Amino acid sequence: MIAITGAAGQLGRALIECCTRQGIDFTALTHSQLDITNASTVARFFSECPCECIFNCAAYTQVDAAEENPKQALLVNSLAPWNLARTSIPVIHISTDYVFDGSNISACEVDDAPRPLSVYGLSKRMGETSLLEGGFQGLIVRTAWTYSARPGTKNFLHTMQRLFNERDAIGVVNDQIGTPTLAEDLAQSLIDLYLMGEHLKPMHVLHCTNAGSASWFEFAQAIASLTKTHCTVHPIASSEYPAKAQRPAYSVLSLTAIQELGIRPRPWLDALESVCKKDESNV
Ligand SMILES: NC(=O)c1ccc[n+]([C@@H]2O[C@H](COP(=O)([O-])OP(=O)(O)OC[C@H]3O[C@@H](n4cnc5c(N)ncnc54)[C@H](OP(=O)(O)O)[C@@H]3O)[C@@H](O)[C@H]2O)c1
Repeated sequence: MIAITGAAGQLGRALIECCTRQGIDFTALTHSQLDITNASTVARFFSECPCECIFNCAAYTQVDAAEENPKQALLVNSLAPWNLARTSIPVIHISTDYVFDGSNISACEVDDAPRPLSVYGLSKRMGETSLLEGGFQGLIVRTAWTYSARPGTKNFLHTMQRLFNERDAIGVVNDQIGTPTLAEDLAQSLIDLYLMGEHLKPMHVLHCTNAGSASWFEFAQAIASLTKTHCTVHPIASSEYPAKAQRPAYSVLSLTAIQELGIRPRPWLDALESVCKKDESNV
């Protein structure tokens, strides 16, 4: 059996669906069922839970809000992963491309030096470091630009779909490059890694996103074209869309390491097309 923390989030929900489909026994723990920042509750819960692996999908994910609320971001993203790992149950922990500063000119490798630009990125990097230095068993999987078409999830796809209904034209940032990643594809890769026993090795880092790269503008344009909106999307610079947190200009993650393990994520546009087509057939 596996345990899924942050089970009501977009990745948590995708994992639940994946486990259900593949007949993998799981226990799903939402924030209200298990607050991972509470060390004694976490220890007590897992001392009685016969699970073989904890998938930690719980996180403080509000990148801009973290700049004004660093204490909460650090508590959830830096300290809480350690509460989970010290149960001695192997952990598959999710981290982010925002641990990098964006100065790379080619895809970031798993052992490239992180240099976060934001409180969120720093909090996630500190979470990675505590797991890597703690002598634990498990896996840190960095991902990026995650979205899902599932109703009730908050992400770029849903924001664009709302804006397309409200406006005739929108400007979207064209000078940040990353990889849009479908939560359901990521969940499947995480389960594949678990079934291969990657979580049983000493704590190490892998990258997992869909394949390829795009700017937010290109991602928005693809959504616009697939959903046949009348709204026009035009490119703008980050400086024209001021945000509290600084984002990396280029944070594409190299997939070499997981490809060597036999996991080959599909191109991001194929993944986006698959969910937009499904949406269309449900209309
Ligand atoms: N979304 C992205 O674009 C992206 C990109 C790169 C990496 N990631 C990483 O991917 C992972 C999954 O993200 P996601 O997109 O699924 O995020 P999400 O939809 O925001 O889900 C995060 C979940 O964590 C829960 N949570 C927050 N604090 C908690 C606590 N103290 N104890 C237990 N649960 C808590 C939240 O519950 P409440 O809402 O009730 O607080 C929410 O259900 C995270 O590690 C994130 O850093 C995400």
